[in-house]
Amino acid sequence: MAPGFIVWMTGMSGAGKTTLSQALRARLSPSRAVEVLDGDEVRTWLTRGLGFSREDREENVRRIGHVARLLARHGVGVIVAAISPYRDARAEARRRAEEAGLAFIEVYLEAPLDVLIARDVKGLYQRALAGALPNFTGVSDPYEAPESPEVVVRSASESVTVGLERVLVALQARGL
Ligand code: ADX
Repeated sequence: MAPGFIVWMTGMSGAGKTTLSQALRARLSPSRAVEVLDGDEVRTWLTRGLGFSREDREENVRRIGHVARLLARHGVGVIVAAISPYRDARAEARRRAEEAGLAFIEVYLEAPLDVLIARDVKGLYQRALAGALPNFTGVSDPYEAPESPEVVVRSASESVTVGLERVLVALQARGL
């Protein structure tokens, strides 16, 4: 059985986590078991009822991390796509994964706020800027950027293909 791993994509809403996670899944899935744990979907099926306070986001990340470990220890390549804005919560997910002997690859999807506001695929930034969405990451809530992620993708200027190759290189470097 191929060893499992956790690729943890973090970044603000609209930075490209979902797009890159789907591209990675498509690339890996013909040859191995892969699952994506995406914030929007997880919040429907696993963490329904949690909001966007610090406490609730930490709980969201804790549960995602737990499921990711359960899957990864049975050989699944797990791709997490969640804003996961707090450094400590991501560090805890990493620590628990590594304690379980699982590779944890943090991928930071970086994009300037003005680009995210201009894209605003879901219309959430407009609502947040108008004051209608409290605790919105990047506008009225913090995002703590990773200090030493394994991979950085600058999604405003770099393509999905470039980001995908960079993640694949990081996996290959670990023999995965
Ligand atoms: S996390 O902070 O707990 O990791 P998660 O990735 O699960 O967040 O969910 C983020 C998604 O919830 C966003 O893509 C967006 O569609 C939606 N959302 C709704 N309210 C907020 C908010 N206040 N801040 C960020 N995202 C929000």
